[in-house]
Amino acid sequence: MYAVVITEPGGPEVLAWSAVPDPVPGPGEVVVDVVASAVNRADLLQRAGFYDPPPGTSPYPGLECAGRISALGPPVADGTSAVDGTTASDGPAGGWRVGDEVCALLTGGGYAQRVAVPVGQLLPVPAGVSLRDSAGLPEVACTVWSNLVGVAALAAGQTVLIHGGGSGIGTFAVQFAAALGATVYATARAAKHEVLRDLGASAVFDYTATDFVAEIQAVTQGRGADVILDIMGGAYLERNVRALATGGRLVVIGLQGGRTGELDLGLLLAKRASVAATALRSRPAVEKARIVRGVRDEVWPLLAAGRIRPVIDQAVPMARAGYAHELVAAGGHVGKVLLIPGDLPDGIPAGLPDDATGH
Ligand SMILES: NC(=O)c1ccc[n+]([C@@H]2O[C@H](COP(=O)([O-])OP(=O)(O)OC[C@H]3O[C@@H](n4cnc5c(N)ncnc54)[C@H](OP(=O)(O)O)[C@@H]3O)[C@@H](O)[C@H]2O)c1
Repeated sequence: MYAVVITEPGGPEVLAWSAVPDPVPGPGEVVVDVVASAVNRADLLQRAGFYDPPPGTSPYPGLECAGRISALGPPVADGTSAVDGTTASDGPAGGWRVGDEVCALLTGGGYAQRVAVPVGQLLPVPAGVSLRDSAGLPEVACTVWSNLVGVAALAAGQTVLIHGGGSGIGTFAVQFAAALGATVYATARAAKHEVLRDLGASAVFDYTATDFVAEIQAVTQGRGADVILDIMGGAYLERNVRALATGGRLVVIGLQGGRTGELDLGLLLAKRASVAATALRSRPAVEKARIVRGVRDEVWPLLAAGRIRPVIDQAVPMARAGYAHELVAAGGHVGKVLLIPGDLPDGIPAGLPDDATGH
């Protein structure tokens, strides 16, 4: 098969669409023939050599994909799936069959024609969503649901601030929080405000021109946000705590503004507030399977009902993965950038800019 290989740590030019051995499914895994994958910001860090894949996982980037099951691995020794608790009566692959159309949360390897996936990380394609567009859902849905519901316990009637509302994560989080019945605020550059209001944000703050602490205090009459989903880390830590309401929960999932910052414990204590930080990729398979099951039960019905939709900026051939990384690094995109397996020139989707000369 072909996969996007990181030839050495570096810039977008180190990504090469190359012939590599096919994946071999282990016990409790299936092989998915990839129809689409999607870029996540973590892939840029992996390419640069700052985010190695966990031991024993695919060396190729790609944390999510959509496609068709083409092979089933052997059942695990005791006849149950090691990763999601399905039993032998569900069949060797938890009820999944060759030919099923799926999307999947991956620990890596999505930038390829084929990838091996633990059955606990498979999801059906939500009703009303195309197989291709579903490739951009698993990573954002699992991250957003596990943090907003699992960690922050966001509830209807509460107020949430989503930093980076125009990102892959942000566009999903704004819609999901609105569907939960929360009042949603977001930060984003001005060009993205209209689309975020369409997705359900009550107001969007331009982080390049205004102070989000003052903005959130103004719109909540000085109360602050019950929940903040943060991607900036150290640079926003002190301001995020100031922006929290009494009893508020700050959940840090990204460190785009650095790993260290000043935490005013006195203010945290006075507000009886909390700060948490999580990562999805490094969780063991059994935890990922639990999250995937929760997403299937609680988030997929919202997609099927049309209350959340995938937000796709554009699709790029995998042979031009370097160009896709440049797009995401530049930050002008809204939502997800998809990657379609295929060599040049066959895989070039209509609408790719003329100057799309990436690798
Ligand atoms: N912990 C986890 O498990 C986990 C899982 C997935 C993703 N993440 C993290 O979530 C973040 C988003 O991921 P993604 O793949 O969706 O990224 P992405 O699409 O590349 O988006 C990055 C976003 O950062 C925003 N941004 C940049 N500077 C900002 C600032 N000063 N204030 C507010 N927003 C700012 C940009 O907004 P503008 O375009 O408006 O400038 C852009 O929308 C990343 O940090 C990623 O590492 C974490």
